[in-house]
Amino acid sequence: MPDTIIQKTILFVKEVLEGAEGGHDWYHIERVWNTARYIREREGTGDMLTIELTALLHDISDAKFNGGDDEKGSEMAGDFLLKQGVDAETVEHISAIIKHVSYKGGFSQDQISTIEFQIVQDADRLDAIGAIGIARAFNYGGFKNRPIHLPEKPLQEYDDSKAYHKSDAPTINHFYEKLLKLKDLMNTATGMQMAKERHDYMLDFLDRFYNEWDPGK
Ligand code: ADP
Ligand code: NI
Repeated sequence: MPDTIIQKTILFVKEVLEGAEGGHDWYHIERVWNTARYIREREGTGDMLTIELTALLHDISDAKFNGGDDEKGSEMAGDFLLKQGVDAETVEHISAIIKHVSYKGGFSQDQISTIEFQIVQDADRLDAIGAIGIARAFNYGGFKNRPIHLPEKPLQEYDDSKAYHKSDAPTINHFYEKLLKLKDLMNTATGMQMAKERHDYMLDFLDRFYNEWDPGK
């Protein structure tokens, strides 16, 4: 059963994500799936099937692209899994993880205390930082037709997660509102270790970026 359900889930997710923005496409899912399995191996704990299914299904309906519906992705995932004959308790757990996994601007957010949640959230967040994270951020900014950087504009900060989600700040702002914060929000020891390296790489990137922007400064 586990192998067939994984294969069927992959086919379902690929179909749903056909034509998705480059940072939230099938390859984002594949990277999160691979990273989640890697963290699970290193941590030595967590139900592998739950982790794999959650990683595969976690972005099938992102509120950023579906008109702001936070529940739709978890509901779609739940319906799909029940149809595949996955037991109700596992389905409920997976749906709950999907509902709460997303970053809310650094404001307090519901976390689920299970290791499966912690691993999938770490894997998803690791894909937002480092070299891949930089590529994804500028791809998303381009997709939204946002400026790369506006040097005269002060760093934008937010009062709550609604304001964070509504922002259309330049992409460089995203490093400060999210990407550089993720290192300290990792759940697992493996996640923390991996995040540190990717974080340092982003700091180097930003150093070079400002240097090249005005070499005389
Ligand atoms: P999560 O994976 O926690 O749900 P998001 O889907 O908002 O978070 O973010 C995933 C990726 O989408 C980010 O790492 C980034 O690459 C891109 N992204 C989201 N919002 C922005 C933004 N305002 N500017 C640039 N990139 C963004
Ligand atoms: Ni994701």
